[in-house]
Amino acid sequence: METKILVAYASKYGSTEEVAEAIAAALRERGLSADLQPMRKVRTLEGYDAVVLGAPIYYGFWHTDAVNFLTKNDAALVQRPVTVFALGPTSTDGNEMQSSRAQFDKELAKFPWLKPFVAKLFGGRFPTKLRFPDSMVAALPASPMHGKPSSDVRDWIAIRAWANGLVAQLQPGMHQ
Ligand SMILES: Cc1cc2nc3c(=O)[nH]c(=O)nc-3n(C[C@H](O)[C@H](O)[C@H](O)COP(=O)(O)O)c2cc1C
Repeated sequence: METKILVAYASKYGSTEEVAEAIAAALRERGLSADLQPMRKVRTLEGYDAVVLGAPIYYGFWHTDAVNFLTKNDAALVQRPVTVFALGPTSTDGNEMQSSRAQFDKELAKFPWLKPFVAKLFGGRFPTKLRFPDSMVAALPASPMHGKPSSDVRDWIAIRAWANGLVAQLQPGMHQ
């Protein structure tokens, strides 16, 4: 029977959504069935063999949709292979990468039952125009976002390579 994967994402400015789309497309190209849905619209995991979850980091925390999704679906998620990714750093600076990684790991530690075989961090995109309340926070001179230029450090080759590598691991029964 065909392996059915859910790729569920949260995204505020659209960059994580585009990464989730690329991951779903890569899984489909490799012969899996992959549904793409915003996390907040997912009602049930019934019918899915495995789940890929992706969300950005904001203000040191994983997007609240991701935290809510994990909290709400814990019983269903422990029964399936689950893999997670986050978008965070908006430059390739080593310190920023490390700090985003630490933020992501701290968030994941809140869910000790979640044993993803990989928790991948990708570079993200800092938007050209921030919306309220982010625009207000960034207007404060003390904010790390103050005067921050837009950037896009999403590494599409790495993203596709990671998705291709998931194919074997997302088969049910492979994660124990
Ligand atoms: C207001 C704001 C706050 C952010 N805070 C963090 C942060 O604390 N840590 C981090 O790693 N990335 C942070 N980022 C970077 C985002 O995670 C990155 O821009 C991501 O690609 C946004 O995803 P989205 O377009 O799907 O919303 C922040 C970005 C913005 C715009």
